[in-house]
Amino acid sequence: MGGTFEARLVEALQPIRNFALAQGIYHLFNSGLYERVSSGPIKVIELAEELAFDPQRATGFLQYLANEGIVLLQDECVSLTAAGRELAPFRPWYELLVGGYAETFQQITEALRGPDYATRNGPMIGVGSCGISEYDAFPLVHELMAELPAPPKFITDFGCGDGAFLTGLLESYPSVSGLGVDLFAPAESPVDGIRFLMKNATDYARSLVPATGADRGETLFLAVFLLQEVLEQEGRPAVVELVRTALANGHLAVVEVDYKPTDPSIMKNGLGLGYYNPYNLLHAITEQRLEPEEFWLRLFEEAGAVVVARRTVNSQVDSTGLEIGFLLAPAGNEH
Ligand SMILES: C[S@@+](CC[C@H](N)C(=O)[O-])C[C@H]1O[C@@H](n2cnc3c(N)ncnc32)[C@H](O)[C@@H]1O
Repeated sequence: MGGTFEARLVEALQPIRNFALAQGIYHLFNSGLYERVSSGPIKVIELAEELAFDPQRATGFLQYLANEGIVLLQDECVSLTAAGRELAPFRPWYELLVGGYAETFQQITEALRGPDYATRNGPMIGVGSCGISEYDAFPLVHELMAELPAPPKFITDFGCGDGAFLTGLLESYPSVSGLGVDLFAPAESPVDGIRFLMKNATDYARSLVPATGADRGETLFLAVFLLQEVLEQEGRPAVVELVRTALANGHLAVVEVDYKPTDPSIMKNGLGLGYYNPYNLLHAITEQRLEPEEFWLRLFEEAGAVVVARRTVNSQVDSTGLEIGFLLAPAGNEH
């Protein structure tokens, strides 16, 4: 083994440096600092006053970020560096994996021993997940919707997170109204025509009366990264029932992650190690369960569904092919 002790220590400390940096970047966004500094250089003292920060602590945080090359501190002013500006579109990944799951990674040992699952920050997961979906699942659902026999009159988003997905979708369909159901749904809707319900999606689905006649098929249900949650919470039969209930009232668009944790071609891919490896881990210790595509296809069949369309994410965004969208219709009523 070569190198001095210090050289080996520096090497061994890189994950700790990145651990602190991931937290630092998340809080740069979450504190409002990033937004304020994006509009140009500002005196640190003014920034601290505007954001109600303790000036000494704010200076310490900014000095940390300056040493990591994220901000520039000069003449008592702070601004974003080019590397700092580049981070802007990636904010939701920090919101999901750090804001939502930092506490989860702290509980690995307890979760391994059980019986409890590791906890997570539910509202922040909704924010981060919907933010990421803007780049991947949102265009996927748009593509699936193009395969519908007719535009829906109503969209129900099961597991709607902070509601941004549904709200964004309905901007393209102004005559369609929507309902978002989530354990952490927003308390209020930002627009007319969209309602939110803070409720378990399976409880809500059980209260639905199957549509008949002309109403049949007028609702599009969405389950974007939701079935994996219900699967661990309530078991496979509950997911089958949820799919069946949705199909009794219309079409269902499902987006799931194909679980391939041992596929070397994926785990060697940058996104494989950078995103899916921690993503798989956090699913293993929280109350959710990833499954491979074949599992979902068998489940859909059992629920009486036919896959009308299958799409994966644009490879410019995610070349792993792991994120898959399905448009489901009741068997015998494929179009
Ligand atoms: C990974 S997020 C997906 C959010 C959003 N659909 C998107 O496109 O990113 C999963 C969401 O499902 C919600 N959820 C989990 N179990 C649920 C349940 N049984 N009923 C309703 N919502 C649930 C969580 O609160 C979370 O907001």
